[in-house]
Amino acid sequence: MIDKMLGFGFRSVEGYFTWLKGISVQLAMVDRAMIDLAQQGPMPPFHLRVRVHGSPDLAGFLAVGERCASDLATALERVDRPLAAFADILDFGCGCGRTLRWMHQLAPQARLYGSDIDAEAVDWTAKNMPFAMLAANGERDPLSYPANAFDLIYAVSVFTHMTEELQDFWLKELHRVLRPGGVALVTLHGYEHWQHFSPQDQKQLQEKGMMVVPTAMWYGLFPDWYHNSYHAQDYVMNKFGSIFNVIDYQPVALDNNHDIVVLGKPA
Ligand SMILES: C[S@@+](CC[C@H](N)C(=O)[O-])C[C@H]1O[C@@H](n2cnc3c(N)ncnc32)[C@H](O)[C@@H]1O
Repeated sequence: MIDKMLGFGFRSVEGYFTWLKGISVQLAMVDRAMIDLAQQGPMPPFHLRVRVHGSPDLAGFLAVGERCASDLATALERVDRPLAAFADILDFGCGCGRTLRWMHQLAPQARLYGSDIDAEAVDWTAKNMPFAMLAANGERDPLSYPANAFDLIYAVSVFTHMTEELQDFWLKELHRVLRPGGVALVTLHGYEHWQHFSPQDQKQLQEKGMMVVPTAMWYGLFPDWYHNSYHAQDYVMNKFGSIFNVIDYQPVALDNNHDIVVLGKPA
């Protein structure tokens, strides 16, 4: 037996047991990870994760979703509107529930709703996150909800992919379904992102206030208009401020990456 073990490349019996111990520690870690995953409920399939996360990485998908939900809660605290005070919350552009699954834990008091143009993602989320009410929406059609339906709306990384024309439509539509006194949180690619553009592009963005940069990354996954868009803060204050009250503008407040603009509808 020992001869056979040594033949396998172990220089001693101790070496063999050290190897065995290493394997069992790794198996225990895998077990732990499986238990943690099971506690987080069903995971969306590979292709649905790629559509919202840009990669299939499951650990990253979970970690980013958790951070997004907690950063939204922090954004609300900064303007003295704690998450615990909201009753009807819409996750606009929820995809397969990357943020919604954590919002459920942070806002157990609320009725949660999710909406997205991605009917397959909405279908998966409806089946696997029964705590929320899901509905698919059209690219440029009014939502199926009545006016003033929600006291909190958040849109994580949704206005970061729209044309200006779609953005203007959806700002008005979100304003319609937001209750007077309610709050909407919209995340944007702000200065942190576009400071790396060429000086020419930076100048153009500063002048226009918003720029859509075509990218092949989403080709075949989303409609043709879906690219990456970038915003200048002055533009947001004016344009978003022509529809909502801009309560606050918080640079890189979401996942240390997106800006969060906090919008209100007067009571
Ligand atoms: C980068 S993903 C983010 C998904 C989700 N908010 C999250 O944080 O995991 C962008 C999502 O916005 C959705 N989307 C884009 N335009 C939309 C629109 N007009 N109405 C609803 N959803 C939209 C896309 O289908 C996609 O699921």
